Amino acid sequence: MQPGSEPGAIPDLTRAQLEELQLERLRDTLARAYAHVPHYRAAFDAAGVRPQDVQRLADLAHFPLTTKADLRDNYPFGMFAVPRDQVLRLHASSGTTGQPTVVGYTAADIDTWSEVVARSIRAAGGRPGDLVHVAYGYGLFTGGLGAHYGAERLGCTVVPVSGGMTERQVRLIADFRPRVIMVTPSYFLSILDEMERQGLDPKASSLEVGIFGAEPWTDEMRREVQERSGIRAVDIYGLSEVIGPGVSQESGETQDGLHVWEDHFLPEVIDPTTGQVLPDGEEGELVFTSLTKQAMPVVRYRTRDLTTLEPGTAYPAFRRMRKVTGRTDDMMIVRGVNVFPSQIEEQLLTVDGLAPHYLCVLERPGNLDELTVLVEARPGAGDRDVLGRTLAGLVKKRVGVTARVDVVDPGSLERSLGKARRIEDRR
Ligand code: DLL
Repeated sequence: MQPGSEPGAIPDLTRAQLEELQLERLRDTLARAYAHVPHYRAAFDAAGVRPQDVQRLADLAHFPLTTKADLRDNYPFGMFAVPRDQVLRLHASSGTTGQPTVVGYTAADIDTWSEVVARSIRAAGGRPGDLVHVAYGYGLFTGGLGAHYGAERLGCTVVPVSGGMTERQVRLIADFRPRVIMVTPSYFLSILDEMERQGLDPKASSLEVGIFGAEPWTDEMRREVQERSGIRAVDIYGLSEVIGPGVSQESGETQDGLHVWEDHFLPEVIDPTTGQVLPDGEEGELVFTSLTKQAMPVVRYRTRDLTTLEPGTAYPAFRRMRKVTGRTDDMMIVRGVNVFPSQIEEQLLTVDGLAPHYLCVLERPGNLDELTVLVEARPGAGDRDVLGRTLAGLVKKRVGVTARVDVVDPGSLERSLGKARRIEDRR
């Protein structure tokens, strides 16, 4: 927080001032990483780069990239740049392959994190004094506690509900009358379904702002959620390795992609195959270098998330990243065509009678991969074969792949309390 400024105030900097601050913080981060983290020392030495040689922000491109495998190899605390007794908090992301990735925070890091989340809530349209319902999971996952500290910092009344017990979520929303909800978009859909099941009209609820993230969701999903609930749905992005939620945030006014809080997190976009830095405006893999983190600085961390960097709008000094609609891990290759679940989501939300609950199943019965989309019918929807054929036709025409579509009963697909699982690989 800048001295004298309000909690969560968005720094009023010019681009030139921001870049000057970034360079100073970058040099400090690289020096600390080199001095205190054996992994970075070895990697910088192997690449022949030294922190003191960095004269411009672009010099960062000479430094080696860091991957999730590097973090795993240094499990649990090998990437920490401070003694363990200065670490106030640990979080971990479960990952798909078993071994968790552990991240740590000093008191100063918790302060930074609270500040960037407070900033994010403010940018989304939250204000001091708001009641904020936090339905992100609490625990090792960064969503719940990250949102919680940020909302408290902003001066809100926080309801730390966490995920699950959907009936109770609905009752607490009706009784406490929150203005803001922070939750994964897929779990918000479950909350809306439950409201309707209880005979409540979501549009009549007190909610005005939804701060949705932790998983990909499309603009079509935004439209669906906004129409059904009457709230303003805005995107929040982050990842544990970089800090948690609050790395970037969409403005509730412009709803046009996420402003990266670049005074704390320096973004680059690279070609995922060659590792070369791409110019702004080109799509590639997002890479972050932390600029202020103490316990676990990250240098050129590969997020595996695909996006594009564009100039700022609502906050002109801060570049925006386009909504992340896919990650390299979730890319399905169906007979040579690359497909992300979000592309299926975009299409299915244009078909009246299909609900936004779906799962992509990959199989290889012979030599070729086959994709089946399981999607729920809305209650009272018409002929399911027709609905299925309509979606299959759209997917063929607009995405370019052949998929079988099975329209299943409302409520029959597994719901998640946090991040939705969109792919089941049976190959
Ligand atoms: O999901 C942090 C978070 C919590 C962000 C709550 C927003 C709200 P991880 O569990 O480490 O951290 O997972 C990070 O989730 O690399 C993306 O692939 C995905 N992700 C997060 N936010 C978004 C988003 C939290 N807004 C991984 N859109 C990231 C798309 C997202 N994907």
